[in-house]
Amino acid sequence: MRHRFEISYVGMERTLVRETPSRVGEKVKLLGWVDARRDHGKLVFIDLRDRSGKVQVVGGEELSDFKNESVVEIIGEVKKRPEKLVNPNIETGEVEMACESAKIISKAKDLPFSIDGDGLEIEEATRLRYRYLDLRRDRMQRNIKVRSKVTEKIRSFLKARDFVEIETPIISKATPEGARDFLVPSRLQKGKFYALPQSPQQYKQLLMVAGFERYFQIVRCFRDEDPRADRAYGEFTQLDMEMSFITQKDILRVTEELFIEITENVLGKKVLQKPFPRFTYEEVMKKFGADKFDLRDEEQKKDPDLLALAWVVDFPLFEQTPDRKLGPMHHPFTAPKDEDIPLLDTEPFKVRSWQHDLICNGFEVGGGSVRITNPELQAKIFEILGHTKEEIQEKFGHLLEAFQYGVPPHGGIASGLDRFLMAAFGEPSVRELIAFPTSASGQTSVMDAPSQVDEHQLKELGIKVDVKKK
Ligand code: AMO
Repeated sequence: MRHRFEISYVGMERTLVRETPSRVGEKVKLLGWVDARRDHGKLVFIDLRDRSGKVQVVGGEELSDFKNESVVEIIGEVKKRPEKLVNPNIETGEVEMACESAKIISKAKDLPFSIDGDGLEIEEATRLRYRYLDLRRDRMQRNIKVRSKVTEKIRSFLKARDFVEIETPIISKATPEGARDFLVPSRLQKGKFYALPQSPQQYKQLLMVAGFERYFQIVRCFRDEDPRADRAYGEFTQLDMEMSFITQKDILRVTEELFIEITENVLGKKVLQKPFPRFTYEEVMKKFGADKFDLRDEEQKKDPDLLALAWVVDFPLFEQTPDRKLGPMHHPFTAPKDEDIPLLDTEPFKVRSWQHDLICNGFEVGGGSVRITNPELQAKIFEILGHTKEEIQEKFGHLLEAFQYGVPPHGGIASGLDRFLMAAFGEPSVRELIAFPTSASGQTSVMDAPSQVDEHQLKELGIKVDVKKK
């Protein structure tokens, strides 16, 4: 038997909701979801929703069992609404469709929650369990669609400036960014593990050695760290960039131009100050007591369309770790300022670096640096950070070796895409910008992971699990 959906497709071409105002007087077929239904006795109104918008359909009894969120097909004539019935709140508000025939393609059960409002009052676990429904709400549709426009702009902007988009491995070796690694057991070499990258840092530097000069990637990074509102658990997306034969100024300039372009021409918002104000680390610690800060005053904070972007530079190279050791402020590949190199052995905490952070409305939305390219200096920094010679060889030998074959001076930056959009839209969490995020407690959306695996899978990997099964 042929599915009735196929049959109707053969008959008449589909019209999208947003096209209805230009089809007045014509008979068209709409396909979509029942957004709302209002019964007025013999007259029944439906708001039909598709990817392009919503339109009112007027019919009779044939629509009375059309439940909300069912997928339906409606054929009818598009009519101009009388002046006083025009709905200025929707794009198709000047027209409506007079239903001639209608059918339910797929009936929806009662939804577990309403998708009308912003949904923020609903328990997050429930929203994530039914994320495919939660994503139907207007706010989530907007967030995900704007995100797609932003990545489109990033690609066209950077490609027009000679950047090459290059993918780097996901199954890889640990790259330190300060978080715990996600490990992947190897079946072929039992007892050994891959690590999912916390960032493509070492690969992008190797791409500079490889001569690409300008690289970017919109890339997933994996970090097993405690989640916060501005920090996704598990994975998040960076716009990762690296450039050769540049100074810090060049990195800041191209990043700044890109963020202005995105803010003004994709998000339709305003940048508070252009060029972005630049502060030293010392200045911001004195002024704001933190390296993240919001430059908007109380009045400006009420304006959802204003982004206060700023740079912080001249960070210390090292910070004190909780166990009172020396840790990198950014990561161990960050270059110290030339004039401070003599202090490395004597007063390491006084050494300033070429790190730069991008701040937006109180959040750190990007971070990067000019890199060390001298293999001896790089080895020295690893030593200062407490690595033994053997560890350096085992963990970073590949990079030090690569630097012996002609390495251009280089540097870059990575911006948190989820976090920037969260800040730009004033959303309460990065998860509002991710289609299928992992919950704060580490549970994936819709699909129930992490989960137990079959005994034979563990055996193949040579793994014994030493925790009681729940
Ligand atoms: P860094 O670790 O500072 O630098 O990360 C860069 C930017 O990524 C975003 N970010 C996150 N966003 C959401 N959830 C998270 N858990 C999360 N962690 C980080 C932030 C941050 O500013 N390899 C370097 C970049 C470089 O040196 O070029 C790096 O990853 O917006």
